[in-house]
Amino acid sequence: MAEPKKIALALPFIDTDATDYLAEVVNQNWVTSGGPTVTKFENQLQEFLQTEREVVALNSGTAALHLALKLAGVQRGDFVLCQTMSFVASANPIAYLGAIPVFIDSEKSTYNLASKYVKEAITWCLKQNKKPAALVAVHSFGIPCQVEEIAKLCKDYEIPLIEDAAEALGSKYKNQPCGLFGNYGILSFNGNKIITTGGGGALICKDAQKAEEARHLSRQAKSSATGFEHDAVGYNYAMPGFNAALGLSQLQNLKERIQKKRELHHFYHECFAKIEEIEVLTAPNAAYYANYWLTVIRFTGSNSTKNPERFQAFLAEKGIEARFLWKPLHLQEIYDEHHYFGAQNAETLWKTGLCLPSGCGLIKEDLNRIQQAINAYFSA
Ligand SMILES: Cc1ncc(COP(=O)(O)O)c(C=O)c1O
Repeated sequence: MAEPKKIALALPFIDTDATDYLAEVVNQNWVTSGGPTVTKFENQLQEFLQTEREVVALNSGTAALHLALKLAGVQRGDFVLCQTMSFVASANPIAYLGAIPVFIDSEKSTYNLASKYVKEAITWCLKQNKKPAALVAVHSFGIPCQVEEIAKLCKDYEIPLIEDAAEALGSKYKNQPCGLFGNYGILSFNGNKIITTGGGGALICKDAQKAEEARHLSRQAKSSATGFEHDAVGYNYAMPGFNAALGLSQLQNLKERIQKKRELHHFYHECFAKIEEIEVLTAPNAAYYANYWLTVIRFTGSNSTKNPERFQAFLAEKGIEARFLWKPLHLQEIYDEHHYFGAQNAETLWKTGLCLPSGCGLIKEDLNRIQQAINAYFSA
């Protein structure tokens, strides 16, 4: 009998016809970075976010974080506060600049920054006579962090706030899109994100002048159009036209994509409704509107035979992919000598959590297989 089709965690989902957008790029002969299609993509992102803030399309979310930190004035030796429970790209650009990440624990309700430990970290930095040069707050799995509270802390202490909204395009807090609370917001459009440009990202800037600087730095900081003169050490970070064309086609049904992700989250809620030891990570109240980029579950019981490792292996046997949460950054070999403020919440979440298939391309047949697998595992 043929093996059943593999159900992946989150495959790139390209259901809209990008042909016309791609043809436009070819016809304009603007296949390299920048150009009219990239501008169109930036304008449509701005429209989707309903913001006047400038959006700069780049070739990755990591590049956007790097530029955000640089424009925030982060320098070698500075402290930058950063969520420990995140993908490594949230912290690496701090290290690119020679700055020092100070890691902060998660709260249990959103898995994002716990403000209590943000305060502790700020106090500690001040005692070292070094006010943090920036704070990177992540909206993990598309669930907004307690962004109002975090933004207030940043305002009180005059610390630039950078929102890592790589996973949170379309998520909102009190009806305001994630990425628009801080001095800078970043988005990612890599293969597993809610829209994908192949590889790509965007930087959202509160200050239009900073957006200009970002564009300049992203194009090797060329100071003259004709010659090879450069007024800073720049980067090759601008988004190419083909990538923007892909993004433009998917922006056309972004609202439906978010709806699909939210339906999947609801599906998992129903699947686990009667399974006491499982908690489905859910936005804490109506102020939070999550795109539920990935649905995450957590094993809350002490049943040693039912745990994330065994469940993952059981699903894998059935051709269903599930993924562990990120190992907290302060426990990674590359960062384990850095300061950390918290109470091991992120460690518990890492050891007890599991991400379940959440691709927009999942069909009814896939969901039936997932549901059967869940029932079989938890009834055994
Ligand atoms: C939380 C988070 N931050 C940053 C990034 C980096 O984005 P990119 O892969 O586009 O560089 C990602 C995505 O992979 C992410 O999930």
